[in-house]
Amino acid sequence: MTAATAATAPQRRILCIDHAGVLGGAELSLRDLAVSFGESAEVLLLADGPFRAALTAQGVRVDVEPLGALGAVKKDAGLPSLGALMDAAGIAKRVARRARAYDVLYANSQKAFVVAAAAGLLARRPVVWHLRDILEEPHFSRANITAAAQLANLRAAGVIANSHATADAFVAAGGHRELVHVVHNGIDVAPFDALSPDAGPEARRALGVPAEAFVVALFGRFHPWKGQQVLLDALAELPGVHALIVGAPLFGETAFEAAQHARARALGIADRVHWLGFRDDIPALMRAADVVVHTSVLPEPFGRVVVEGMLAGRPVVATRAGGVPEIVTEGETGCLVPPADAPALARAIRGLRDNPAGAAAMAARGAAHARAQFSAGAMCAGVARALDAILHEVARA
Ligand code: UDP
Ligand code: GLC
Repeated sequence: MTAATAATAPQRRILCIDHAGVLGGAELSLRDLAVSFGESAEVLLLADGPFRAALTAQGVRVDVEPLGALGAVKKDAGLPSLGALMDAAGIAKRVARRARAYDVLYANSQKAFVVAAAAGLLARRPVVWHLRDILEEPHFSRANITAAAQLANLRAAGVIANSHATADAFVAAGGHRELVHVVHNGIDVAPFDALSPDAGPEARRALGVPAEAFVVALFGRFHPWKGQQVLLDALAELPGVHALIVGAPLFGETAFEAAQHARARALGIADRVHWLGFRDDIPALMRAADVVVHTSVLPEPFGRVVVEGMLAGRPVVATRAGGVPEIVTEGETGCLVPPADAPALARAIRGLRDNPAGAAAMAARGAAHARAQFSAGAMCAGVARALDAILHEVARA
């Protein structure tokens, strides 16, 4: 998305805060939102990395304020150490100084929300949390879930949830329902529209994937809950089928990534698995595949990759959990399979391979649905509306 296509939000001064410097789904969504917020917004990252350049390239003002020891606190850990809390106090003060030039603090991640909550208190600014996680075990520890929901009840002027599933988990964790606005993610369709008809075959040639092979592709960072292992197990039941596995261990999961390479060798399928690492040409790679799969074994809060697969005009097979059923209607716009069920995944892939006409029709319905329901414009407008409503309430209080 470019500034020219950005939603015409009023010029509220928004300080967006994100703990990550890498390009995860939350960050890619914020990139489009920050463009739509316009010139009066700035993004403050709590870690440096490629996200900074991705924002700058879109004309978004960005600065970095590193987190220190708090950055090392893992989401499934218990409460943070004293050192981490001291660092949090220091960063809260520094962020509060910046916050005074803004009308609202918009936190794009849980760690960012903790920092924003403290900074907002010091600077007397409202805080909005864009909640992109399912606050459930085992995604998070019980202590973390309770603390996050209670902090939101105390300090968030509003919570924007990326799906109804995310909203429901927040409420089940003790979060106040009246704080929550659900806004589904949306994806910029321009890179998909810009693809030439040869994009798929060209990508296959560049990757050395046989032109005639049946290819499934999985997109996502390496993490046990993203389920790369399930695709490998399914592939072992699908002789001759190739897999593209696209993504990197963004948050240090290198041992898990290495274990998947070993698993492919042990299963005897290594010659059919193409590990592509992190890529920025996702639409073309999706076109190189016959089927796009999503394999998360825990509830996916939203799942941008599912919408992207649909926009690429590919049939998707995704897991029935979290926000995914809000995107895909089983048998209509895609296939849904139970999480962590490799035989079911293999069956769904086989079903699509053996019925090309049905698969193409499903892909066409999926593409139309994704365009209509999950556009970047709709997401930006939805977030602008939610911010309006939240700030209106703040002004009345
Ligand atoms: N992605 C990417 N390069 C990769 C793998 C993934 O740009 O190598 C993108 C993918 O296209 C999607 C995002 O990363 O837009 C992942 O978002 P999703 O919501 O699916 O999962 P998350 O990582 O946020 O949990
Ligand atoms: C998170 C979630 C993912 C969601 C993304 C954007 O990273 O894991 O499901 O699509 O945020 O909201």
